[in-house]
Amino acid sequence: MSGQIVINPVTRANNRGHVEVTIADGKIVDCRSSAFLFRGFEIMLRGRDPRDAPYFTQRICGICATAHATAAAFALEELAGVVPPKNGNLLRNLIFGADFLQNHLRHFYLLELPDYARGPDKPPFQPRYRRGYRLSPEIETRLREHYFEAADVSRVAHEMVTALGGKAPFPHGILAGGSTVPPDGAVILDLQAKLRVITRFVREKMISDAQTIAAAYPECYELGKRPLRLLGYGCFPVDPERKKFHLPGGVVEETGIREVDTDLVAEHLRHAYFEEQGGPQAPETAITRPAPRKPGAYSWIKAPRYEQKAFEGGPLARMWVAGRYRRGVSAMDRILARVMETEMLCGLMERWLEKLEPGEPVFSASDVPKTGEGLGLTDSMRGPLLHYLRVEGGRISRYEIITPSAWNFSPQDDAGQPGPVEEALLGTPIADPREPVEVGRIIRSFDPCYACATHIISERIKAIG
Ligand code: NI
Repeated sequence: MSGQIVINPVTRANNRGHVEVTIADGKIVDCRSSAFLFRGFEIMLRGRDPRDAPYFTQRICGICATAHATAAAFALEELAGVVPPKNGNLLRNLIFGADFLQNHLRHFYLLELPDYARGPDKPPFQPRYRRGYRLSPEIETRLREHYFEAADVSRVAHEMVTALGGKAPFPHGILAGGSTVPPDGAVILDLQAKLRVITRFVREKMISDAQTIAAAYPECYELGKRPLRLLGYGCFPVDPERKKFHLPGGVVEETGIREVDTDLVAEHLRHAYFEEQGGPQAPETAITRPAPRKPGAYSWIKAPRYEQKAFEGGPLARMWVAGRYRRGVSAMDRILARVMETEMLCGLMERWLEKLEPGEPVFSASDVPKTGEGLGLTDSMRGPLLHYLRVEGGRISRYEIITPSAWNFSPQDDAGQPGPVEEALLGTPIADPREPVEVGRIIRSFDPCYACATHIISERIKAIG
């Protein structure tokens, strides 16, 4: 049996995904991961005040807003040579950390769980595949209760973002030089209470729910496998100078773990709808010029590569570097690492709250140089995030953003090597092409930039023969 399956949209969120897989002899033999939205923020930022960058770039995405604010703030701090005070660093970590919690709770329960446990027989739980479910009705009922509870608990995480950042998404509390809300006793007490609600849910329910799924679907340790090539820049600085990170970065390969050298990061454009510039480009030299009718292109995502190789980012990369999870690289490993990271963050945030010093400064003022450049590196919920900016005459002359979903969902590079999601899909056995459960499970294990609404809402089989 052979044929082609097209899944579109993979998401209703702001970066609509499109995945095509070709099946022959019951296996995926070819696949293409694409996105059809032109982001264009690099172009919009040209000529603007550099201080706009943390606010402007947050609008790339309502899910990873704090990640973009953080990367932009780091780039501006490098440009201005400013270091936030201790409180400023802690407050930014807390805002970003609360957004991580919100993201991981929603991704696991609202987006990933319905791949493994059936919800009620009505939208948004339907339409759904008929095959592939094997949990008992009692367990499904319990997980369903947790699904709805997770929606409430993730709202508490957003309330933490709001308490320190003014609102969520798109908070105002992350900016170059630190943060904005002085941590008085009442705010700290409120945040501790909110964090306890989240921590209790994660430790009492989320961990055992993940274990339940892992035990019931052991074949998912074989699903979505790809070579050990993981990448993280690190996130949550220990010190305001960002010499160390609570979740450190690294380059993971079979040969070991190395420090990241961003000189080895380049974007390949051969299969992306952008004009090429004579080979792969570093963030400092990349120019964003859309070419919507370029022959051979199939995605609006560029293909970032490290040392010309495809690397995957996300909780599995971070937990691997930290030495906390090193079982393998598969759909189930990605899920378990995400849950483990959620629990770890609850503990870290408790300590950050204790370290806040009421009455001490939260912000270091600085002037933006008229000329210069800055590189902002952080990990976000789903992988490494890079912002590069150059300023001339006090205005942004160049801005380049390399997102985690560009790493994970990239198309083929200039040498024709597939991106990480494509690698993870290739060779996967599909038991029933009319119900390609396996494809959805693999895609979602990477936590694509979904907002909150949907799963695959349509599937179309072009040819089965
Ligand atoms: Ni996003």
